[in-house]
Amino acid sequence: VTLYVPRDSAARSVGADAVADALLRATARGDRPVELVRNGSRGMLWLETLVEVATPEGRVGYGPVAPSDVEDLLAAGLLDGGDHPLRLGLVEELPWLARQNRVTFARIGVTDPLSTEDYVRHGGLEGLRTALRLPPAEVVDTVTESGLRGRGGAGFPAGVKWKTVAGCADELKFVCCNADEGDSGTFADRMVMEGDPFMLIEGMTIAAHAVGAREGYFYIRSEYPDAVATMRTAIEIARAHNWLGEDILGSGLTFDLHVRVGAGAYICGEETSMLESLEGKRGTVRPKPPIPAVEGLFGKPTVVNNVLTLATVPVILAHGARAYQELGTGRSRGTQVFQLGGNIARGGIVETAFGITLRELLEEYGGGTFSGRPVRTVQVGGPLGAYLPESQFDLPMDYEAFAEAGAMLGHGGLVVFDDTVDMAAQARFAMEFCSVESCGKCTPCRIGSVRGVEVIDRIVAGEDRDDNLAVLEDLCDLMTDGSLCAMGGLTPMPVRSAITHFSDDFLVRDTRGA
Ligand code: NAI
Ligand code: SF4
Repeated sequence: VTLYVPRDSAARSVGADAVADALLRATARGDRPVELVRNGSRGMLWLETLVEVATPEGRVGYGPVAPSDVEDLLAAGLLDGGDHPLRLGLVEELPWLARQNRVTFARIGVTDPLSTEDYVRHGGLEGLRTALRLPPAEVVDTVTESGLRGRGGAGFPAGVKWKTVAGCADELKFVCCNADEGDSGTFADRMVMEGDPFMLIEGMTIAAHAVGAREGYFYIRSEYPDAVATMRTAIEIARAHNWLGEDILGSGLTFDLHVRVGAGAYICGEETSMLESLEGKRGTVRPKPPIPAVEGLFGKPTVVNNVLTLATVPVILAHGARAYQELGTGRSRGTQVFQLGGNIARGGIVETAFGITLRELLEEYGGGTFSGRPVRTVQVGGPLGAYLPESQFDLPMDYEAFAEAGAMLGHGGLVVFDDTVDMAAQARFAMEFCSVESCGKCTPCRIGSVRGVEVIDRIVAGEDRDDNLAVLEDLCDLMTDGSLCAMGGLTPMPVRSAITHFSDDFLVRDTRGA
């Protein structure tokens, strides 16, 4: 009998290791041999720890399972998929999963992340093998034709970026994977690294072939120790299988990967700060141009892509640009991995084609708030993203539609708030966050954010409200126009959206609702 207990850190944080231990101890006493696989998470986080058992009909799930449930589950016939109040049925048929279109996340939660056999059995390496048969320029063209855009947030076409790097004559080039996933409410990068690390290695290797790089780096935030450990182990396994190193899979390609761990600064997710940090320096922003594609790591042409972007490359090569390009809407092609978090009943990963509405994500997948109170607002796209009011919940998830509405999709994270949220406090938090995380290089951000906190405090204290609102507006304009990078440049977005859509919250605290 094969049992599955996730090793993803979200599952471990609610006791998956203890559940796995309890299952191993209890089944060791029985007469049926049990193989326990530590798979990735399916991303239905409210059901963790989700235990699955392989049956002739498919994998049957039970959840959320606590260690104390184990004896009871075994007595109810868990090993045969027996009935129990925690039994969920066939996992693949659960509506939450069945309605999704898992392209990037196809293997996550299904396989053992560090099993090369499992990886290959589920389509792993097909993309790389295809890429290695093609001249580099055709690989770049395939990625361009697929419509894949940078999933870190800015949505820049990946193929165009690769073409710039490929076109540089330098001998030395690099591929860097930005895994400094700092946006609030985002965890998809972490789940890729913990749940399907070979996919990311495969994507990096395809990028290396396409642009002519021989070395690559992962920049992973220190807050993700499990992801760091999994990626390091996966790289060693890949080297041992000749998936990395010299003459990869007999193709003549030489490419190797290294892991570097950040030190906890949000700004190191900005690509040029990340490069500084990778070079061993303090993570401050470099002016652009030159763009990293031309002068990146150690001054050499460098592909810097987010985890999700690189992780999606293998499937594009394996199934063709068209299959990916056919999904989505407008200029937002393919799927996006949405991450539902905050005050939400059913948080987790929803991968689906672009074009789904915010309301569908919130209601059909998220099931409303965790508190049971009405949803008041959702912040989409991290701490620099806009707070959307209910009137905008029918917006399609699409880069351009969001930009038109004064918002941004960012890295696909949704943080839900119920009607108890204080939007003046959220606006103040945006400024405060910027003041703490600013790299200090430019004045509008370094000083503007501190002034922003003070002005919002004066507004809610009722001091010269109209004048101070005008000052705040002016400050937001200055930060937007005068900041060197998105940190200072986008901080006004949540502030402005809060003022525009929730102006009552900026009245003097004692008079609100009066
Ligand atoms: P950007 O628009 O300056 O650049 C986007 C990317 O395209 C960069 O990699 C840039 O080097 C590249 N690029 C631009 N022109 C190019 C050309 N002609 N050829 C080749 N490459 C070119 O945006 P930026 O500052 O890199 O990112 C801002 C975004 O980051 C925001 O929209 C936000 O959504 C996102 N963000 C993501 C976070 C996360 O945790 N994932 C955290 C904070 C912000
Ligand atoms: Fe640094 Fe802020 Fe200026 Fe960006 S906007 S360069 S984070 S000071």
